[in-house]
Amino acid sequence: MLHEIKTPFHTMVDAEKGTVERAIFADQSIYELELERIFARAWNFMCHESQIPKAGDFFLSFIGEESVIATRDKKGELQVLLNSCRHRGNAVCRAEAGNARSFLCTYHGWTYGLDGQLIGVPGYKDFYHEQLDKSQWGLVKAGKVASYKGFVFATMDPEAPDLEEFLGPVARLALDLLSGQGEMMIVEGVQKNIIGCNWKLAVDNLFDFYHVDISHASATMSGARKHAETGLFTPWNHRVTLGDYGHAIGGNKIQPRLWEIVEEMKAEGKPLDQFLNQEWRKRPEVAEALGDMADTSGHPNIFPNMWITGNQICLRLPRGPGNTELWWFTLLPQGLSDAERKIRMDRANRTFGAAGMLEQDDGENWDQSTRATRGVVAQRYPLNFSMAIGTGVTKVGERGHAHIDTHINEHAQLWTYRNWADWMDAESWAVLKAQHTAPPKAGELV
Ligand code: FES
Ligand code: FE
Repeated sequence: MLHEIKTPFHTMVDAEKGTVERAIFADQSIYELELERIFARAWNFMCHESQIPKAGDFFLSFIGEESVIATRDKKGELQVLLNSCRHRGNAVCRAEAGNARSFLCTYHGWTYGLDGQLIGVPGYKDFYHEQLDKSQWGLVKAGKVASYKGFVFATMDPEAPDLEEFLGPVARLALDLLSGQGEMMIVEGVQKNIIGCNWKLAVDNLFDFYHVDISHASATMSGARKHAETGLFTPWNHRVTLGDYGHAIGGNKIQPRLWEIVEEMKAEGKPLDQFLNQEWRKRPEVAEALGDMADTSGHPNIFPNMWITGNQICLRLPRGPGNTELWWFTLLPQGLSDAERKIRMDRANRTFGAAGMLEQDDGENWDQSTRATRGVVAQRYPLNFSMAIGTGVTKVGERGHAHIDTHINEHAQLWTYRNWADWMDAESWAVLKAQHTAPPKAGELV
C-alpha cells in the first residue's frame, strides 16, 4: 500500500472530530496486527453450552482465522483447543460438530484426548525410540475458558482478566437480555456466509439505525420488516450504553406502546414473535438481573465481534481485510408453542443470514464501502462518525452502566473505533487494562 500507517493507532481515530482513517479497513499489516492484538487476546464467543452438553461433545469455532475445538472433557470441563496437530499442523477435527472420544490426526495418526493431551503416537516405540515427551506435545490450549449463563468464551491469552471482569456490566447486561428470555437452546445448524467487507464495517453497522429507512426501503415496502408501521422504531427514543474494552449496546428502548400492542395481539389470540414477546423481562429473577436498565433493548456488541439481536447471535469472523464470514446462531427458549417457534424461525431465516432480506441490502453497502477503503485517493479522506457528537449527556445507572438516552446517533460506532485503537496500541493485557478508554462519567458529554 502507498499510504503511510500512522501508528499509534489513536492517530487514525479522531474521537473529538469523529473521524476514522479508511486505511484501517484495508491494510494487510493492520489486519494481521488485529488478529494478534484483538482476536488472540480477547475473550471470543465459542458456543452455547446446550451445543456441548455431554463429555466428548464438540463444536468447531474460530479465534480470528484459527480453527479451535470447543469441547467437554471426560470430567465435564470445558476445553478449547487449537485445531492443529503438533506434528505437521494438520487439522485434527474436520467435522463442524459431533461427539468424539479423542481427536485422531488423519495425517500420521497422532491422537489427542478431549483435554488436548497427546495420548497416541504411531511408532512411538520403534520409530521414536520412546524419546518423544508426549506431555510436551499436546494440542495448544486456550489461555482461559469460561462460561457466563451458558455462553462459552475463550481467550488465548492467559494474562486476560477473568471473563466476568472482561464482560463488565455492559456485556453482562447484553447476555442477561438474551439468557433472560428463558432456558435457551441453540437451534441445530449455524447459518454461515461470506460477505466482501472488512469485519469492522459489519460490526459498526449493528449499531446503525440511521441506514434502516434508506437501505431497507424495499424490504420495508415488501412487508418483511413486520413492525415498521407500529411506531416502535421511533428515531427519538434510543439508548446507547458504553462499556469497558469496547462493549456497547445501541438502539431503541422498550416503549410503553409495545405493551399495548402485546395486549391487543394476545386478545386476538395471535402468536408473538421474539420482538414483541418481552414479557420475560417481568419475571422476578430477570427483573433483578436487569435492574434499572430493564427498558434497554437495541443491539449489543460484545467486543470485538459478537452481535446479539433478539434471539440470535452473529459472529463477524475476519477473513482477511476485505472479507468477513458471518455465523448466525439462533436460540429458542424451551416451551414455545409450535406457532411461536415457527414465527421465530421464519424471522431468523428471512431477516439476516444468507437468505435474509436485510443482510442482502447491508452486504451490498459494506462491500462497496470496503472497496473504497482501498483507493489511494480515497484513503486521503477519512470516514465520518460525528453524528450527535458532544451532545449526548451520560447517565450512570445503579450498577455502573454508562448510558445516553437520545435520538439516533453514532456514539456506539465511535466508541467501537476508539476502543479498537486502545486494543491495537496496547502491547499487553496489562497495558490495555491500565490505559484503555474508561466509559464516560455521569454528566459527561459524549
Ligand atoms: Fe498430525 Fe502428522 S500431522 S500426525
Ligand atoms: Fe441493515
